Amino acid sequence: MNILLVGGSGFVGSCLAARLCALGHNVHVPTRRYERAKHLLVLPTVTVGKADVHDEAELARLMHGKDAVVNLVGVLKGGAGEPYGAGFARVHVELPQKIAYAAQRAGVPRLLHMSALQADADAPSGYLRSKAAGEAAVFAVAPSLAVTVFRPSVIFGRGDSFLTLFAHLLKRLPAMPLACPQAQFQPVWVEDVGAAFAASLARHESFGRAYDLCGPRRYTLRELVDYAGRISGHARPLLGLPATLSYLQAWAMEFMPGAPLTRDNWRSMQVPNVCDAACSLPFGLTATPLEAVAPAYLSPPA
Ligand SMILES: NC(=O)c1ccc[n+]([C@@H]2O[C@H](COP(=O)([O-])OP(=O)(O)OC[C@H]3O[C@@H](n4cnc5c(N)ncnc54)[C@H](OP(=O)(O)O)[C@@H]3O)[C@@H](O)[C@H]2O)c1
Repeated sequence: MNILLVGGSGFVGSCLAARLCALGHNVHVPTRRYERAKHLLVLPTVTVGKADVHDEAELARLMHGKDAVVNLVGVLKGGAGEPYGAGFARVHVELPQKIAYAAQRAGVPRLLHMSALQADADAPSGYLRSKAAGEAAVFAVAPSLAVTVFRPSVIFGRGDSFLTLFAHLLKRLPAMPLACPQAQFQPVWVEDVGAAFAASLARHESFGRAYDLCGPRRYTLRELVDYAGRISGHARPLLGLPATLSYLQAWAMEFMPGAPLTRDNWRSMQVPNVCDAACSLPFGLTATPLEAVAPAYLSPPA
């Protein structure tokens, strides 16, 4: 297949590009910054080009001759504005809608779209509400376009910005004040996410469906941060903050460079980020335990 991989330069996208390439697909990755996607050029059937995917004319050009489009674009900070934050509206709702319509107009038959676990129109955070609106937007274009949506919990793997970030922070701190220590997650391996995307491409039963993606076990945030510390060789005392202090910490961190935590992130963490059933990946895939993978990229060099 000829596949347009929008958001393909990031953490999940880089993994998926390699998998699609290994399966013999031709993949094109548009990016705002060519430098950010250059690492993909070692993959023999992957091409990279600078493009503004928000521009409908450019999207139309990018769709030309493609058999499928994958949209992975997402942000964790949405800025101000109703109903979700202007950034979330642009990236999580308007862009997926533009991509779906551009695919439909160009006769691209297949769209895989990345959402997030617990995305819901009534969710407490702009992130989750905007992801729900994005799902609705892409499904609205069906049935002429065969759409499949994926809704993962937090994703781990080499290059993640979750366990790796905590390991880096713990290295620098004597103890860590931790917002929302009881927040729940069911982390899923990036390779399992990539496998689910790739497997769905030609599966008719996945057309028009949304799949939650979770790992085999649930953890609290405290357990995950503690694990990242122990495995990276930087075990530290964790000072779990109560709800009000957690919120104030998130508010204060919005003003730090890169805003490592926001009040919207805090609101997302009020919803358990776990799957209903003991999870379960679709298409007969088996979820990989965190403990089988994380030591390979978190452990200090021997
Ligand atoms: N990582 C997780 O734990 C997790 C969990 C649940 C859901 N998700 C979802 O999975 C998707 C991929 O996540 P990721 O961790 O791979 O993210 P990432 O590493 O930050 O990559 C994001 C990608 O989106 C593109 N992008 C970002 N902002 C953009 C904008 N304003 N306009 C156009 N392109 C933009 C970037 O492309 P360029 O910078 O090259 O243009 C990059 O390729 C996202 O939709 C995210 O919400 C992630």
